[in-house]
Amino acid sequence: MQLCSKIFRAVAKAPLIFIATHSLLPQKGTYFLLHTLHFTILKLETMQNHCIYLDNNATTKVDPEVVEVMLPYLSEYYGNPSSMHTFGGQVGKAVKLARTQVAALLGADESEIVFTSCGTEGDNAAIRAALLAQPEKRHIITTEVEHPAVLNVCKQLETQGYTVTYLSVNGQGQLDLDELEASLTGNTALVTIMYANNETGVIFPIEQIGLRVKEYGALFHVDAVQAVGKIPLNMKTSTVDMLTISGHKIHAPKGIGALYVRRGVRFRPFLIGGHQERGRRAGTENVPAIIAFGKAAELEMLHLEEATKREARLRDRLEQTLLATIPDCEVNGDPTQRLPNTTNIGFKYIEGEAILLSLNKYGICASSGSACTSGSLEPSHVLRAMGLPYTTLHGSIRFSLCRYTTDKEIDQVIAVMSEIVERLRALSPFKNDDAGWLQQQAQTLAHL
Ligand SMILES: Cc1ncc(COP(=O)(O)O)c(C=O)c1O
Repeated sequence: MQLCSKIFRAVAKAPLIFIATHSLLPQKGTYFLLHTLHFTILKLETMQNHCIYLDNNATTKVDPEVVEVMLPYLSEYYGNPSSMHTFGGQVGKAVKLARTQVAALLGADESEIVFTSCGTEGDNAAIRAALLAQPEKRHIITTEVEHPAVLNVCKQLETQGYTVTYLSVNGQGQLDLDELEASLTGNTALVTIMYANNETGVIFPIEQIGLRVKEYGALFHVDAVQAVGKIPLNMKTSTVDMLTISGHKIHAPKGIGALYVRRGVRFRPFLIGGHQERGRRAGTENVPAIIAFGKAAELEMLHLEEATKREARLRDRLEQTLLATIPDCEVNGDPTQRLPNTTNIGFKYIEGEAILLSLNKYGICASSGSACTSGSLEPSHVLRAMGLPYTTLHGSIRFSLCRYTTDKEIDQVIAVMSEIVERLRALSPFKNDDAGWLQQQAQTLAHL
């Protein structure tokens, strides 16, 4: 394949140069030929190249600098950070440095950082801690579009006598703050709301929410797993009491996270045992992952401004080109309040999974943003909460970029997308038939 592409490139380049310099063909024909050749080369390269990873909201590549700092803690420096001896003590110092680095990314004090095993643990720990600290209060407020790490805990709490209000979102995935205000009572123990949505990238007005929550004396927990490293966070000036983050979304390894707990907030540990993490999370620390998380946090701070600008530019170019070249597609979610790296696009009349499989053939990794990947046929709860029509709901794809995404990779995705959508639509019996599509989807859901 590599040789084939090289030959093709050489052959293709000759007429390109000839046409460009001599402009022998009429202008429209020249453009068409150049365009076709350019995209054919890109497609060939896409097929033979490494994977094009546009699924960074699912997980990210571990930064090589992060791997480097972490490795010695898997070999030479294996001491327990809680030990009294110097061998363990030097590991304890490294953990302290990592804690400072993570705290700096959040604009927090290092004493306010509790290392956890992942974002899911952080969310669970925050919710349970808030309820244990205020046993007299039995009401929780969250949203319909949270990650399962929050939603499923809330559902379980309902079976244990708690009342949960699930705030709705509008067609753009935004909350109605009046609905929040109307739901808050003196019995509300906790409001737990995500900073940014993992599927659409929609950002919620966290500080405006926090001001209302404080008026009612409830605790405010924010799942910032997707926001951290993509938008600046400053806990010093924030209304947030607890905030969850996760390492593998910011180029650290999987299996490490942190929970910010504002100083003075009454906290009850979720994991009970030893005295680690100032008694807030028992269990010997995952030292190599903590060291890696610290370095990743430092790098995120360093790159944040420039990387997010670049990612937004690449994302916008991808999005605008796809919208301009493919009919019947639209962006899902508020385009003005969105993470810089995320776009979720609905392609009418086709299945997202079919698009993903086609992209996969070119080595392009994206996500359908739905629960289908985890074995369920049900469409995404986030897009359903937004009230998207069935025609778009099933054909939605999330592309999520990172600081390693290149212009060329975006070109390669653009080069293959129209063809994929066109081919799948040609096979779809429901092209331009909203009623037929709707009926078929209703039947599918009825059988679930
Ligand atoms: C918004 C949000 N919260 C929580 C999590 C869970 O994080 P982890 O995978 O570290 O458990 C994720 C993971 O995708 C997420 O996107």
